[in-house]
Amino acid sequence: MADLFTSYMGLKLRNPLIVGSSDLTRSASGIKRCEEAGAGAVIMKSIFEEQFLAEDDIQDRDYTVHPEALDYMRGGGLLEYAPHSITRIIEEAKKDISIPIIASINCQTPKLWPSFARQIQEAGADGLELNIYFLPIDIDSPCKVYEDQHLQILKEVKKEVSIPVSVKLTSQITSVPYLGRRLAQAGCDALVLFNWFLEPDIDVENLKTRSLIGKGNFYQSLRWIALLADRIDCDLASSGGVQKAEDIVKQILAGASAVQVCTLFYKKGLDEIKNLLGGMETWMDEHQYSGIEDFKGELSFKKQELRFRDLGEAEAYFRAQYLKAYSK
Ligand SMILES: Cc1cc2nc3c(=O)[nH]c(=O)nc-3n(C[C@H](O)[C@H](O)[C@H](O)COP(=O)(O)O)c2cc1C
Repeated sequence: MADLFTSYMGLKLRNPLIVGSSDLTRSASGIKRCEEAGAGAVIMKSIFEEQFLAEDDIQDRDYTVHPEALDYMRGGGLLEYAPHSITRIIEEAKKDISIPIIASINCQTPKLWPSFARQIQEAGADGLELNIYFLPIDIDSPCKVYEDQHLQILKEVKKEVSIPVSVKLTSQITSVPYLGRRLAQAGCDALVLFNWFLEPDIDVENLKTRSLIGKGNFYQSLRWIALLADRIDCDLASSGGVQKAEDIVKQILAGASAVQVCTLFYKKGLDEIKNLLGGMETWMDEHQYSGIEDFKGELSFKKQELRFRDLGEAEAYFRAQYLKAYSK
């Protein structure tokens, strides 16, 4: 019988299926339900910098919170999941949950990331995911500015905590491999590919803009997991678009150590975890793989690269595939 054990960012997971950061994981009882349903680990709902500021009523001109965000939080939207309660949730959850609990924070202000990280470690979280989300609006800022911000946040957080730290990236970064390598060199324990942006839309009747919730893109994750696996010195997790067991197998073949899933559980419930894991075991048995390491990264670029003389030839190969696809 196949063994689904995997190691992810230095943590031991009974299987690679992680329930992604969402409202499914924002309470100790929610995390318990994920464990009972069979998940290998959970990422807790992200805590946002604005929640820390609002909870402590911090008035500081360094910290700008848009009034709409404050109104939303004070209306009950996010304040009940504020920093003091997240540390209590972690403490409570750690009493009778044995799967790893990875907290998630999303900040804008460089000063705040490290101090939140420390509080979360002290509460007993097994790991920390930095949900880094910048929308580059400034036409005078080159991509280096944004890439350096990622590095700076990671380095400051790593100074404060000893638990493993992952970075969840957006796909809209000039060079995912280059930034990924720099983050790995700076001590990032895992990269999560990808976060999603809010999608813009326009209400043509009322001439207003509006934001739509984003969507995970399975193939985008698959591409970059395959391109990064075994070429940078940290683990990889995919996040986006998993619908069935075969999708998890694909991400592992590309090189992922773990796979985060969310929307599927909103649609079909956490019972779906058993089907996903059962499907993986069946596939592994049929292909005579006894463990995840036996096939992890088998179809990564690193393995395929051996077919090419050098990176230039690999780029030419991808260019040829592109040309063929557009010439049909
Ligand atoms: C309702 C909902 C809430 C989410 N909240 C967060 C969040 O607070 N922080 C975060 O990093 N990702 C959040 N996500 C994104 C998920 O963690 C995950 O990256 C993504 O949904 C995975 O793709 P999938 O939903 O296609 O499985 C949320 C997703 C959903 C559906």
